[in-house]
Amino acid sequence: MRLYVGIDLGTSAVKLLLVDGQGTILNEVSREYPLIFPHPGWSEQRPEDWWTAVREALPELLHGFDASEVAGIGAGGQMHGLVILDSQDRVIRPAILWNDGRTADEVAYLNEEIGRKKLSELTANIAFAGFTAPKILWIRKHEPENFARIAKIMLPKDYINYCLTGVHSCDFSDASGMLLLDVEHKCWSEEMLEICGVTKEQMPGLYESWQVTGTLKPGIAAELGLPETVKVVAGAGDNAAAAVGTGIVGEGGCNISLGTSGTVFISSERFGVDPNNALHAFAHADGGWHLMGCMLSAASCNKWLCEDILGTSDYAGEQAGIRDEDLGRNHVFFLPYLMGERSPINDVDARGTFTGITMDTSRKDLVLAVLEGVAFAIRDSFEVARSLGLDIPRSRICGGGSKSPLWRKIFAGVLGIPLDTVKTEQGPGYGGAMLAMVGCGRFASVKEAAEALVEVGGTTKPDPALTARYEEQYRKFRLIYPALKNIFPKIR
Ligand code: XUL
Repeated sequence: MRLYVGIDLGTSAVKLLLVDGQGTILNEVSREYPLIFPHPGWSEQRPEDWWTAVREALPELLHGFDASEVAGIGAGGQMHGLVILDSQDRVIRPAILWNDGRTADEVAYLNEEIGRKKLSELTANIAFAGFTAPKILWIRKHEPENFARIAKIMLPKDYINYCLTGVHSCDFSDASGMLLLDVEHKCWSEEMLEICGVTKEQMPGLYESWQVTGTLKPGIAAELGLPETVKVVAGAGDNAAAAVGTGIVGEGGCNISLGTSGTVFISSERFGVDPNNALHAFAHADGGWHLMGCMLSAASCNKWLCEDILGTSDYAGEQAGIRDEDLGRNHVFFLPYLMGERSPINDVDARGTFTGITMDTSRKDLVLAVLEGVAFAIRDSFEVARSLGLDIPRSRICGGGSKSPLWRKIFAGVLGIPLDTVKTEQGPGYGGAMLAMVGCGRFASVKEAAEALVEVGGTTKPDPALTARYEEQYRKFRLIYPALKNIFPKIR
């Protein structure tokens, strides 16, 4: 029997899956690590913490299994985070993450002075605060001594792959979110590198997600009790890995991921750009491309309300009192912009709000408002996709938030489409394992792996009466952000 390890390097934790050649999940282990907010709106993590977590979790994952049967490892990772290494491959400073909002000035420089049109021509995208290129400019300006020491620029999961193999690699899906890749032609944009003051030598080698970048370093193999022959594939950004894991490959499928971030991922065999650049145009992990809308705080809004404010981790308990007749009738609205927002409003100053609170507002109304507010914000990205003429008759849904039947019902109602969950629900980790299987020759292509391994487990259908109520509620929701937009920068 051959075994495969899938790694999901998330923002709150790393999750590892052990999968056999038939796609059966044999074991899973997760390890948390701290998220550092050095200033409001800034977000960092220590790459060394990711590696420690993976290094500790791997032996636990393999405990009771024959480690000599492991053939391959594939990772999906949080995107855009800037990891910088010096000439000795030491981490120079904590990674600046995908949901960090410090680069407003650099984003303005790129979008206004270099110009959106040029950026879009070079990279198929414009600058957003979380993207990697503005962070490089930020380091150049605010930490010139660190900038001068940069020998390699990497993304989070690439650092893990480097620790495993000693190879500096990046795949096209993740590289797309750097604003340094010519996404259409799948090569570094020399002009963008020059704009950011870096060279090709400082960039990792580029691969398709299923391509093998190397095998385990002998020391690491010995420490983890794994054979030196274990192949490590380039892996993917977590959204592309999740789409692979939910079978959204090839033309026209859609996957919604409800994790710390919330994303709408529309797969395509052809390269295409949103003319307004509200949706990201990125490469996919199956060799094709995708359009994606990303909200910065999705399931994390519910986590914040329950854990940090209400002091409970019993999410199901908080949702238990919400009845069907409460849905779509809430007088409280929530803007989920707890870390500013990316898609589609691109506003680092946007903030979360509860609007419409009265003396009879209950705890339950606030919980419901959060669940509904996140669904409305995802609908904003859907509306952009629909305005481009894209037909999305149904979608898959994955991520921690999708485990709540109530939240799935709300999403199906707000979007007015059926939502499918898959049997192997661990999107990015499972996608990572599938990429490893392709790299090891178990399947000839990512599409073939998806066809063989991914099965729909259940469907949440939209209730037409609820969809009609949510239509009205969504219209009201849409009034709130424009009314507050100019106030947010004044109350920072
Ligand atoms: C996508 C994005 C997030 C992170 C979360 O553009 O920024 O989905 O990848 O891990």
